[in-house]
Amino acid sequence: MANNGREVRTFADLEALSQAAAESIVAIARESVQARGRFSIALAGGNTPKRTYELLGERHRDAIDWSRWQVLFGDERFVPKDDKRSNYKMARDALLAGAPIPVDNVHPIPTDTPTVGDAADAYDRTLRHVLADGTQPSAIDLVLLGVGPDGHTASLFPGSPVLAERTQWARAVEAPTMVQPSVPRVTLTLPCLNGARNVLFLVAGNDKRPVVVEILQGGDGARRYPAAMVRAAGRTVWLVEQSAMPPREQNT
Ligand code: 6PG
Repeated sequence: MANNGREVRTFADLEALSQAAAESIVAIARESVQARGRFSIALAGGNTPKRTYELLGERHRDAIDWSRWQVLFGDERFVPKDDKRSNYKMARDALLAGAPIPVDNVHPIPTDTPTVGDAADAYDRTLRHVLADGTQPSAIDLVLLGVGPDGHTASLFPGSPVLAERTQWARAVEAPTMVQPSVPRVTLTLPCLNGARNVLFLVAGNDKRPVVVEILQGGDGARRYPAAMVRAAGRTVWLVEQSAMPPREQNT
């Protein structure tokens, strides 16, 4: 289904969604390596991508040229790397521990700096370094994202001043009050996300349905949701579990 510049695909359950996500990632990685000799990916946090990461490291392990991967992160909670709330820890346990990616090619968002602002500044420099010549737009090959029940994506929350950022690629974010975990974060910004060659949203759970309905219906009100503000320079694809879709879109 095409939706206002997005492609939307619906899946019966998280397993089917995760299989499709893993297959898309493998295909985009292959195209990127063929075209430019490497593949840069920004991983999403939260729970939904976990099964996708496991499938990449298990079922697709031998079909991937891991040495060409450059692994970035779309956002991070400002907690130690072994904290159970850490997005890096989730990705490490589900994917990085089993995938032979050169250690120098994995670029976590630092969480041991004196302040969260220092972490964001450091990650902005990392992004510009990893993405080679630092030209605008950032052109990450693939950004994975989730959607929160309040319409946030990465750690871009509704009403946040960070949504107005135009030059920095990473910014510090105050601890959100409406969603957990309520800790300060670092997030990639809209100019960075929207410069990507591909964006793949992974959306599961019926708590997301009200915002998914609004965003896909595309009324003026939906514009306040950060997830609705993300459009890749290339393709933007939403993979959505049926339970998160508008009722009339289900069973199609
Ligand atoms: C985070 C995120 C966040 C997440 C959504 C969806 O660090 O919290 O990266 O944007 O992707 O909240 O999370 P779930 O997949 O757990 O629903």
